[in-house]
Amino acid sequence: MGDSLRFDGKVVVVTGAGGGLGKTYALLFASRGASVVVNDLGTSHTGEGAGSKAADLVVEEIKKAGGKAAANYDSVENGEAIIKTAIDNFGRVDIVINNAGILRDVSFVKMKQADWDLIYKVHLHGAYSVTKAAWPYMRDQGFGRVIMTSSAAGLYGNFGQANYSAMKLALVGFAKTLAAEGKSRNIHVNTIAPVAGTRMTATVMPPELIEALKPEFVSPLVAFLCHESTPGNFYDVSKGLTPEAIRDNWAKDSKQAPSAPAAKAAGGNENVDPSQVVGFEFPVTKVQYTEKEVMLYALSIGAAKNPTDPAELKFAYENSDGFSVLPTFGVTFPNFSNVLSIPGLKFNPMMLLHGEQYLEIRKPIPVNATLTNHGRVKHLYDKGKGALLVVEADTKDEKGEVVVHNESYLFIRGIGGFGGERGPSGNENQPPNRAPDAVHKEKTRDNEALVYRLASGDMNPLHADPSMAAMGGFDRPILHGLCSFGYASRAVLKHFCDNDPANFKDVKVRFSKHVFPGETLVTEMWKEGDKVIFQCKVEERGEYCITNAAVTVSSAASSSSASASAAAAAASSAPAFKAEAVLNNLSKLLDVAGEAVVKKVNGIYHFHITDGPNGAKESWVVDLKTGPKGTITRGAPTKPVGVTLTLGDDSFQQLFSGKLNAQQAFMQGKLKIKGDMGLATKLGELIKQQAKL
Ligand code: NAI
Repeated sequence: MGDSLRFDGKVVVVTGAGGGLGKTYALLFASRGASVVVNDLGTSHTGEGAGSKAADLVVEEIKKAGGKAAANYDSVENGEAIIKTAIDNFGRVDIVINNAGILRDVSFVKMKQADWDLIYKVHLHGAYSVTKAAWPYMRDQGFGRVIMTSSAAGLYGNFGQANYSAMKLALVGFAKTLAAEGKSRNIHVNTIAPVAGTRMTATVMPPELIEALKPEFVSPLVAFLCHESTPGNFYDVSKGLTPEAIRDNWAKDSKQAPSAPAAKAAGGNENVDPSQVVGFEFPVTKVQYTEKEVMLYALSIGAAKNPTDPAELKFAYENSDGFSVLPTFGVTFPNFSNVLSIPGLKFNPMMLLHGEQYLEIRKPIPVNATLTNHGRVKHLYDKGKGALLVVEADTKDEKGEVVVHNESYLFIRGIGGFGGERGPSGNENQPPNRAPDAVHKEKTRDNEALVYRLASGDMNPLHADPSMAAMGGFDRPILHGLCSFGYASRAVLKHFCDNDPANFKDVKVRFSKHVFPGETLVTEMWKEGDKVIFQCKVEERGEYCITNAAVTVSSAASSSSASASAAAAAASSAPAFKAEAVLNNLSKLLDVAGEAVVKKVNGIYHFHITDGPNGAKESWVVDLKTGPKGTITRGAPTKPVGVTLTLGDDSFQQLFSGKLNAQQAFMQGKLKIKGDMGLATKLGELIKQQAKL
């Protein structure tokens, strides 16, 4: 890398520099020797209110770091006053960064004249006014650099932003003309279309994106474009750089870029390098959850709406018999917002659509666990207008065994045409030509999306914030596709898997339409071999939200007799529970001291052991009430018990060998107790005696 790019002696005016992108520009220019006018009206992101604090704080920060800065609090509508601050304080103006901006998002039909006028005044008229006031100085001194701030919304359009996108694209034309007029006087005018996590985008992007897209990634490009050595261009920013790195790569990049039309910056070969994309491995991420998350998830996809139905309560209450995890919980494990970090792939996150989802259950999903996600890019297909990105992830347990495998099919509009393979265009999982074998109708809750976002961790404001929904083209926030997916999969689980997750092998769906919370989902199902083909309709609007979908069910679920024999076969060949050895030991104790123990304890224990070999569950009843010496039997209780203790196989063994303290296990949620607590505490004595053997 060559000498650093300095701005000593230069005077830079940055509008809207009190926060967001503008602040990073001001700090960077100041750190490289420029005197900076920090302009900011101190207004809200919709243009309400005004104040001097935002600009003052940035000036203070620059001065503290040894830089030179002056504040200006005028609106950009008053360009003369802003440029006057530069002249009064520093005697000249060399660089103008037109950055100030606000939003007045509303659908065109509801847009008021004031919404249009204000966006015009701040963005287009503001950039005109400030540039107009600086222009004569630049011409006279034979040097000037001007930046206009456009937006992807201007280039592609965006629902609810007719005013904003019109002004943002107008700035492109404005800049091109000024670039032509300024050329002979060494005035360069560039336009950028940034993407950054700021307060302006905080309502649009999920928190992970806000975190990932730092405004500091944009400022080096702005600095470079304003340096003495810079040619004119149109640029789109989305990754971390330094001004020097841009300069050093400029020659290479500019072979394609200098005269590129605006749209080319976000579509075409320079955005997609399949050789880097396909096979890219994401950093390993950790998933940690307890029964609480498992139950919250179940509730968020409608389970146990009837809380007295044991078939559903078992997904939503930890002490219920056969407490289990709904298979589709596995879809919440990977986090694919990290697709933005894939090298060789540049795109606007607003252009991303979740097209299809595949989930395969390889091992029973534990009721609490620490798992790791191992994700990679499986395919990248060129669909003409867009690209189809297929990302997959194996979620593994602590032994390194895959618990679930996910594949997400993500369609990215606007970046196709890079010359790649078109990929499959299959129309799989079509319903057969007969009436459905089963139909399941269920109304979603009015606040379903608010619950699902907490349960799944998908905090996209599209599902919560009415103004965001309006920007996305919807009357109100929509339900997560994966929530309707959960509802429909539950219907298949109920009708074709005996509500037993062990019978649910995998599921594939296509998301065809949105669902509004509160609408009724009608899942139509057809059994075809070991597949249950299904589709899901929104009753109120008659539109299918899920199509081309199927669940593979285990053959055990296909017929009840097969199910019984399969279970018997599994039981006979199943590896032993650790609890079994412990209880054999306990029966030896009863042989020698049973009478005394029964007298002392006088109660019946039911141990419900979870997480046995291959995740299996089993019950044992330790009857220390029925004389003379008590009994230990395998299987669910056939008579009333005093207390039920639910715990994992390992915990059971540790508890009885004295390695796990019962009280601590209870507090940590490893041991659940239902029934007579007094009887449960008597267990301590039993454990002590048993340990002596
Ligand atoms: P921001 O809301 O964080 O910062 C904008 C600043 O402009 C605020 O400090 C505000 O007080 C100031 N401001 C608003 N109206 C003003 C006026 N009339 N006069 C002077 N100052 C005024 O927003 P952010 O994200 O930093 O946006 C900066 C520019 O980048 C805007 O023009 C925006 O439209 C554009 N942009 C941002 C994108 C992003 O991803 N953040 C995407 C595309 C464009």
